[in-house]
Amino acid sequence: MKGKPQYALVVGKGAREHAIVLGLVESGRFEQVYAAPGNPGISQLAQCVPWQNTLEIVAWTQTMPTLLVVIGPENPLAEGLADSLRAQGHWVVGPSQGAARLESSKVFAKSVMERYGIPTPRAERFYTIGELRQAIDTETRWPHVIKQSGLAGGKGVVVVESAEHARSVASAWARQPEVFSQGVLWEDYLVGEEISVHVLTNGQGYVWLPLTRDYKRVSPAPDAPNTGGMGAYGPVTDVSATVRSFIDQRVLEPVMQFLQDDSLLYRGVLYVGLMLTADGPMVLEFNVRMGDPETEVLIPLVDHDWGACWMTLSQGELPIMADQPSRAAVAVVLADSGYPVSIVGSQEILLPPHPQARIFHGATSAEGDRLVGQGGRILTVVGTGATIGEARNRAYHTMERIVAENTQYRLDIAIESTRIGE
Ligand code: GLY
Repeated sequence: MKGKPQYALVVGKGAREHAIVLGLVESGRFEQVYAAPGNPGISQLAQCVPWQNTLEIVAWTQTMPTLLVVIGPENPLAEGLADSLRAQGHWVVGPSQGAARLESSKVFAKSVMERYGIPTPRAERFYTIGELRQAIDTETRWPHVIKQSGLAGGKGVVVVESAEHARSVASAWARQPEVFSQGVLWEDYLVGEEISVHVLTNGQGYVWLPLTRDYKRVSPAPDAPNTGGMGAYGPVTDVSATVRSFIDQRVLEPVMQFLQDDSLLYRGVLYVGLMLTADGPMVLEFNVRMGDPETEVLIPLVDHDWGACWMTLSQGELPIMADQPSRAAVAVVLADSGYPVSIVGSQEILLPPHPQARIFHGATSAEGDRLVGQGGRILTVVGTGATIGEARNRAYHTMERIVAENTQYRLDIAIESTRIGE
């Protein structure tokens, strides 16, 4: 076993990883923080190494002294990066490949929920477009939800308003052979408020991080397409102790039981996407990593030495965290104007001085002295304050001063009254 890490590595290249890097740098525990591959914002804090994929990362870490590694995105977890790095003796935050199936296979996750009585919308599984078309033809309840079982970068869930809409989504997905071979869920549509529950877990127990809420649609329009997330805020304070206790007993404790029953190693973050319905909380999805943009809210929100927290967790112990923070944070995402359907890209971005907010980089590149947007989610602007209102004002004050053509952002992040239909 290698010694205690003096160096840290964050895997990923988005605004989530920028926030995680910030937490590690502010912790002051590490001689050097690396990011693979990082982005121009991250490069101002950490040393970016060019490794893009699991094989390249594993080859490089083999040559390195002990690293604390925090794996940001789901794909490397689904490929087993956490297992490979642990086998090399590094201190890793991220679940094993087996446990990562909770996110990488929605069919698998649904089966786990059914096995442990975890409340979740009813869903049928289909493996051919013919089966799905039959279900669409006989469906009487609209809207309905279609979900790809496999990872789809936040684009594999569509709320379909009509049979015609559902048929068009099914036909588009049938053109990608892996979609039906992995499975498609035909799921009941639920009405309610969504919340993002993040816990740090060692597979036996867990500690809650503050509750957050994200905004998945690209705009407030009820038929706007889903994205990876266009904004978030925290803490969410309108969830009662009774509901939290229900989530403990009916969701989180059963997941711990499942991990133990199936002997699956989990040292990382479990993020449960929940809908608060009239019939109680229902699990929409499990994610085996932190949310984006929820992380950009959580890292500045929680007064904690994140370096110490990740080190403790990587060793299978639970850190002590406060899940009722003394301040609030609001994140607003600046995205390409074509997102999530197409990419315009190549926007020059001019950032104002921003003493009131943090700016985390997503899809940006540096071209000489110019900062350029590369499509998708480009930046996340985060304000913090004593209240959600103050945090919100600070985020938008900075966002309004960013100069970038062909971009979009939502104006209603953290305005509760506009959330109906989210
Ligand atoms: N914000 C949604 C996600 O990270 O999956």
